[in-house]
Amino acid sequence: MYLFMLLLTLASCAPESTRVDGFQIPEIVYPKDNPSSDAKIELGRRLFFEKALSIDSSISCGSCHKPALSFADSVALSDGVMGRKPFRNTPSIINAGFLPYFMMEGGVKSLELQVLAPLQDHNEMALHVFEACKRLNADSSYSRQFDLVWGDSATPFTLTRSIASFERELIIFNSAFDKYLEGDSLALSESARRGKDLFYSDRTDCSSCHTGRLLTNFEIKNNGLAKVYEDKGLFRLTTKDEDAGKFKIPSLRNVKHTAPYMHDGSLTSLKAVLNHYNRGGMGHPNQDPLVRPLDLSENEVEDLIAFLRSL
Ligand code: HEC
Ligand code: HEC
Repeated sequence: MYLFMLLLTLASCAPESTRVDGFQIPEIVYPKDNPSSDAKIELGRRLFFEKALSIDSSISCGSCHKPALSFADSVALSDGVMGRKPFRNTPSIINAGFLPYFMMEGGVKSLELQVLAPLQDHNEMALHVFEACKRLNADSSYSRQFDLVWGDSATPFTLTRSIASFERELIIFNSAFDKYLEGDSLALSESARRGKDLFYSDRTDCSSCHTGRLLTNFEIKNNGLAKVYEDKGLFRLTTKDEDAGKFKIPSLRNVKHTAPYMHDGSLTSLKAVLNHYNRGGMGHPNQDPLVRPLDLSENEVEDLIAFLRSL
């Protein structure tokens, strides 16, 4: 079901590579069929933390997307139901409302549709959406709340739209880097400022991929993490060899809270990430040419880490 849905909604239009594209805070675009309201967000919040939405009532969305960790998790693979594991690292969903598409190969087009993936995934919550609605409608406090917000019961439509409305409100733009961009030049330490200059330089080209206020240009690239990819990323959708090992370029906002890193959580620290880029990647045939040996000194690596921690 999950793969089928990804295939149905194959992302089409990643923008061409751009250099630093200005730092405006982007606008949230609300879908026409899902305008926001406080009551809907409140219902979505309740559902996001509702364990009854997993087959054995053990796991909620918030069990993996932990609020204290920028709605990410601290382990490479989070716990799904009955000791099962999802096959990827749990990403932060802060500011997810700004993303043009979802999942690491970009195959899901809206937050609303995305809700069905973890809910029904065998390794995550493993509950059919109809069963989820049945459970909610059997609970009088939920059925009252759905009726108040939607004038309707819990259905796949109202359930997915309520949760997406909550997620769309998870917006944070108050990091040290944000303060710096807004004119407080002392919000970044000297080391972080040196790191920033490196990040936005031809020496590293980090900002060719991680750009704008969200630190991503939304493209899907191979950053040379592995020589052989167990999880082939975009290839799963297109089955083209040239797409093997390509993953969505993630936002780096809040990155100090979201270790471990990369699609498989294989890099445990920002130091390990910088070592990866400094080494120039593992040399996969699809590795992007921007990833190449950088010859950064220990101090330069520390400066880049200080900058990443300011995001
Ligand atoms: C068992 C852990 C787990 C649970 C439970 C879980 N997620 Fe996730 N979530 C993940 C993982 C892993 C991914 C990455 C999946 C991928 O890209 O293939 C993800 C991806 C996402 C994304 C896409 C983020 C992006 O940048 O593309 C959103 C949004 C999301 N989850 C929301 C939810 C919601 C809503 C629920 C509850 C209905 C939920 N998750 C339940 C682990 C979990
Ligand atoms: C060619 C585009 C590209 C360039 C250049 C690039 N990255 Fe990345 N970056 C990616 C992709 C793609 C991923 C995700 C890979 C994965 O999930 O396996 C990523 C992941 C990361 C992550 C992990 C984020 C997370 O939440 O897991 C960090 C941190 C990061 N990059 C920092 C940097 C820094 C610092 C530089 C410059 C030294 C840089 N990147 C250069 C494409 C790029």
